[in-house]
This record gives sequence, C-alpha cells and structure tokens, in this order.
Amino acid sequence: RAKVTIPYLMEKKAKKEQITMITGYDYPMALLEEKAGIDIILCGDSLGMTVYGFDGTLPVTMDMMIVHAAAVKRGAPNAFVIGDMPFLSYQVSPQEAVRNAGRFMKEANVDCIKLEGGIAMAEAVRAIVNAGIPVMGHLGLTPQSTSALGGFKAQGRSAEAAYRIIEDAAALEAAGVCSILLEAIPPEVAKIITEKSKVPIISIGAGIHCDGQLLIVHDMLGFFDRFVPKFVKKYANLNASILEALNQYKEEVEKGAFPAKEHCYGMPEEELNKLKD
Ligand code: KIV
Ligand code: NA
Repeated sequence: RAKVTIPYLMEKKAKKEQITMITGYDYPMALLEEKAGIDIILCGDSLGMTVYGFDGTLPVTMDMMIVHAAAVKRGAPNAFVIGDMPFLSYQVSPQEAVRNAGRFMKEANVDCIKLEGGIAMAEAVRAIVNAGIPVMGHLGLTPQSTSALGGFKAQGRSAEAAYRIIEDAAALEAAGVCSILLEAIPPEVAKIITEKSKVPIISIGAGIHCDGQLLIVHDMLGFFDRFVPKFVKKYANLNASILEALNQYKEEVEKGAFPAKEHCYGMPEEELNKLKD
C-alpha cells in the first residue's frame, strides 16, 4: 500500500472514512499491523505497562522509546508511525521538547510525535511544529498526570470539565497539531470537538463520533487476564492460546516427545559409520 501521510489522514476525515489506529511496540507486531493495513501505529509510552511491567508510564525514558519506535518503523514502513513523548521529555521547556522530539525523528525515523496536555503545552507544541516535526495532541485521561487526576479515571464528565477539554483542543489546534487523541471522555464531548476541528480527532474510549479509533494492542488481543478499561474490546484471547502452547511444550520436553526426528539434522550413513568406529 501507499505510505500513510498527513494529507491522506485529512482526506479520510473530509470523506468521513474512519481512521484506524493501534499501539505497537516491536517488530513482529508492527509487521502484522502493517499487513492488516492499519493507518496509524502509536509506539506509546504505555509500553511501560504492556512490555516492561511497570504500574504506570512515568518510568519510561526517551532511550526506551527510541529503541521501540525504530523497531516498529522497520516492521511497518508504510503506516503512519507516532513516537510518544515520555514523562519529563517535553514538560520542562519548549527547548527540551524540541530536542527530544527531534531525537524521535533522527534516531527512529518516526512520522510524528505525540504529547499529553492542552493549553499548558501549547508553547511546546508550537516550538516542535516550528522545527518541522508533526505533533499529535492527547487530552482527557492523560496517563502521565494520573496522580494529579486521582487515578486512571474518565474525564470531562461535568459541563465545566467538558468545556476545559474543548478549549484545550482549540488551543492545540491553534498551536499546529496535525491530530488530537481523546482518551476516556463522554462521546457527546468528543462529538463537539470532532465537529469543531479541522484536524482528525481519534478516540480511545471517547465514542463513535470521532474521525478514528485507537486501542492498545495488548488489550485488544487479550494478552493479559488482568483488568482492562471499560473502553477495551477483546478481539482475541492470546493469553489462553500462548499459555496452552507453553504448557504443551513443557509437557512434551519433560516426557521426551520433543524434539522428534523431523526436528533433527541428518548425517550421511558413511559419516555415521566413521563416527561409530
Ligand atoms: O501510550 C499510549 O499507548 C497512549 C494511548 C493509551 C493513548 O498514549
Ligand atoms: Na501514552
């Protein structure tokens, strides 16, 4: 397929065709996501939880993100790959934000970066965009502020809170973002933002009225049997099939059923005879 670009995503919004987006953290999954024709792959700092086993995203560093984003890019050269700016890589100053966003472009060859926050981050967004780097915004439930938000909780559920998110979206758009992600907010609020904005608005737990949808790949594939948020739909139960394969392997090794002859390398008869002498 052709390379997914910002004009292509804008065209999809204009034609009211849904944009498909999913997270990806490594090469094998990116290969499959590319094969499935997913438009956007987010190498999210959610890898802190899905890949590294932390209980949040705060410990994730730029170095970790770059290694993973580069692997995703190698697996999915034609998807629109977004590198997620980890905690403290953009909040300290617009200068640091530009330097770290630039690292994503230079070292991982991503198509875009994403960062969390609205009005408070507008200056950093403007500086990154001025450096020629596309930016996706992220509003609503912003996991890097979980402590300030009082936990992983849905946002924008009062009219006042909804207005703040709508104003944040307008500020991000004015600062030059190419798209905005809305996480865990009521569909009615996401609808207002989607209708007002000229750039594609993507939902993760923000309902059906947006220009596209995102899910975390480990959640939708059912990698874990632990809690998943309300907005997750499990399209597979990999947890069970992987566990079944591991159990079967263990059992076959222990009883000597693996490896079989077909898994072994042959040797010419005369060489075998010499070996026996
Ligand atoms: O890191 C991530 O995967 C994200 C999504 C949950 C929105 O930011
Ligand atoms: Na993230």
